[in-house]
Amino acid sequence: MYKIAVIPGDGTGPEVTAEALKVLRAVADKTGFRYETREYDYGGARYLATGEVLPEGAVDELRAYDAILLGAIGHPDVKPGILEKGILLYLRFALDQYINLRPVKLYPNVETPLKDKGPADVDYVVVRENTEGLYAGAGGTLKKGTPDEVAIQESINTRKGVERCLRYAFEYTRKRNRAKKLTLCGKTNVLTYAWDLWERAFYEVAAEYPDVTTDYAHVDATTMWMVKNPEWFDVIVTDNIFGDIITDLGAMTQGGMGIAAGGNINPEGVSMFEPIGGSAPKYTGMGVINPLAAVGAMQMMLETLGERKGADMVDKAIAWITGEKLRSMSAGKMGYSTSEVGDMLAEKVASF
Ligand code: IPM
Ligand code: MN
Repeated sequence: MYKIAVIPGDGTGPEVTAEALKVLRAVADKTGFRYETREYDYGGARYLATGEVLPEGAVDELRAYDAILLGAIGHPDVKPGILEKGILLYLRFALDQYINLRPVKLYPNVETPLKDKGPADVDYVVVRENTEGLYAGAGGTLKKGTPDEVAIQESINTRKGVERCLRYAFEYTRKRNRAKKLTLCGKTNVLTYAWDLWERAFYEVAAEYPDVTTDYAHVDATTMWMVKNPEWFDVIVTDNIFGDIITDLGAMTQGGMGIAAGGNINPEGVSMFEPIGGSAPKYTGMGVINPLAAVGAMQMMLETLGERKGADMVDKAIAWITGEKLRSMSAGKMGYSTSEVGDMLAEKVASF
């Protein structure tokens, strides 16, 4: 019996989450696992009503779950940064979700801005370190607001943090069992303290994975190849900020925010899965938002829980609906409503 915490969140978050749960129900009925969900109202509306982003004890409560499914965080009436830092980043750190897993997969018939590239070319995974680097919040300011203002923002890289991320990436590459190629994406030519540590650790860990081919690319070059030769990639491992930036690029190449999903993973603890697009408040309640990213997040949750068969079913259902049904990935242009997409996916899963 899986215990799943659901945080529908803000804007269109609840709408897409409902569809992900609809498909989850269908998968469970089909494959026979059992689960229970409990909903949490964390997000902008709750913050505006109560003045607190997360209630006391929230982290300890969430820790008791097998997984967390998140819709979207972000409210037009809340100053940018408060909810992101107070909920999303806070939970990533507090639950030690040290991996941010971001598949970049172009499904059939999905429009990509990459010329002459198709599903066979765009199919790789970014393993982003999720608790250190520039996101650690180290630094400070001096003489703020004066002409002499100083702002320091430091990137924290610990041997332990880097190594556990690399190990996860090597294991993941091995388990994925495709080209078995792991590319380290860094900046060894300029950021010589951090990337010296990453590079040394990378090749030390690599010695334990002789079956995995290693490669290295500077982050700027990585963005070029992601556009020009995405087929070169199997798995990319990188730090927090580079991972943040390149995964938005990757998301656009796979059809945009309507379809890109991610997982905040603690391999030894509770992981949290989310569509990476955000709350899209202007579409709230219209039933036009694309739920595929949320369904994809749920698919990643199944995979992480070890429900391989169910995860494969959802993957196949998504490929079917993009290939044969949806006219576009964009909100309002799918040719179906948000809940119709969920219904069709659930029916498809039931038919397998
Ligand atoms: C992401 C997002 C977050 C990040 C924001 C919302 C804090 O862009 O998950 O990639 O920067 O990590
Ligand atoms: Mn991002």
